[in-house]
Amino acid sequence: MTRSRFLGTGMAVPDHVVTNDDLSRLMDTTDEWIRTRTGIQERRWVREGETGADLALAASQRALEMADIAPAQVDAIVYATSTPDHFAPGNGVYLQRMLGARQIPAIDIRTQCSGFVYALSVADAWIRAGMYRTILVVGAEVQCTGMDISTAGRNTAVIFADGAGAAVLGPTDDADHGILGFDLHSDGTYAEKLWVDSPGSMYHPRISHEQLDQGRHFLVMDGKEVFRHAVVRMPESVTTVLAGLGFAPADLSLLIPHQANLRISEMVQRSLGLRDDQVYNNIQRYGNTTAATIPIALDECVRAGRIQRGDLLAFTAFGSGFMWGSVALRW
Ligand SMILES: CC(C)(COP(=O)(O)OP(=O)(O)OC[C@H]1O[C@@H](n2cnc3c(N)ncnc32)[C@H](O)[C@@H]1OP(=O)(O)O)[C@@H](O)C(=O)NCCC(=O)NCCS
Repeated sequence: MTRSRFLGTGMAVPDHVVTNDDLSRLMDTTDEWIRTRTGIQERRWVREGETGADLALAASQRALEMADIAPAQVDAIVYATSTPDHFAPGNGVYLQRMLGARQIPAIDIRTQCSGFVYALSVADAWIRAGMYRTILVVGAEVQCTGMDISTAGRNTAVIFADGAGAAVLGPTDDADHGILGFDLHSDGTYAEKLWVDSPGSMYHPRISHEQLDQGRHFLVMDGKEVFRHAVVRMPESVTTVLAGLGFAPADLSLLIPHQANLRISEMVQRSLGLRDDQVYNNIQRYGNTTAATIPIALDECVRAGRIQRGDLLAFTAFGSGFMWGSVALRW
């Protein structure tokens, strides 16, 4: 049976480091508050002129280099982002153009923090169906241009950040290797608990001066509600995907949780009964880069030798939608 496996990984973040002390000069917050509530010490924000597609390109080039695959050999791009450079077209085509790839399909996945897990599920299905062989899967975000960088927006401005991660997937017939299964969900009851209202096609025009004045183009979050659901849904989803394959959480070599908040990751770890060495976190250095957190963490683990062939891994995510899900794989 054909499965898809990872051939290479890469990541890229902006050079511009924003520390908690930097933020405390822009809004009423403190390093102590941010570290205690979120675990974040610093994050990266793009400077004007640097785009999400630029970050995605750099991450993709690193992933392709590791896989020893040329851009012309890529058969499809699946690009997860909730913050495309433009309303339309999606960012997949900008990456296709910048990479110098052939006229291959390039789709955007808009499932926010769960973006990379959903993107993997699409790429995996295409590979297993024999539709495409070599697929570039990307998670990339620029959040800093959509946040209220003031005291009014401090509950999101200290959390979200910019970055990109990429992976190259290809087919394998090795039964002990590759992506094993997914568990994916959504519940639109909570759509407005973490959202960006405007611009939206329901408005005539899509964005007005009045909406701008009201700050309705900013990311808005009900932090307590997100926290409450995230700490239940992620462990539940990891347990479900593993149980469907005959595994238990204790069998995991490594869990990479979406880097929403270090406190959330710690509760997910406790709930699953995992040791510290079974869970990877890097939110301390990058903040929450939405669809990019998992591929950035994956690339760091791969390059640091924390993942070895044969390891049982899971990635899990929860976020805006609400949408959540997990994937299990044998490296
Ligand atoms: C955002 C989060 C850290 C806020 O923590 P919390 O304990 O829920 O805090 P609250 O929102 O209830 O706010 C508590 C107080 O801190 C204040 N506060 C919020 N952000 C602050 C900041 N950056 N610095 C200082 N004070 C802040 C609030 O204004 C509030 O003050 P008040 O009591 O005077 O009204 C927390 O809710 C959280 O992590 N939620 C999950 C967020 C997440 O993971 N999002 C990504 C999902 S993909």
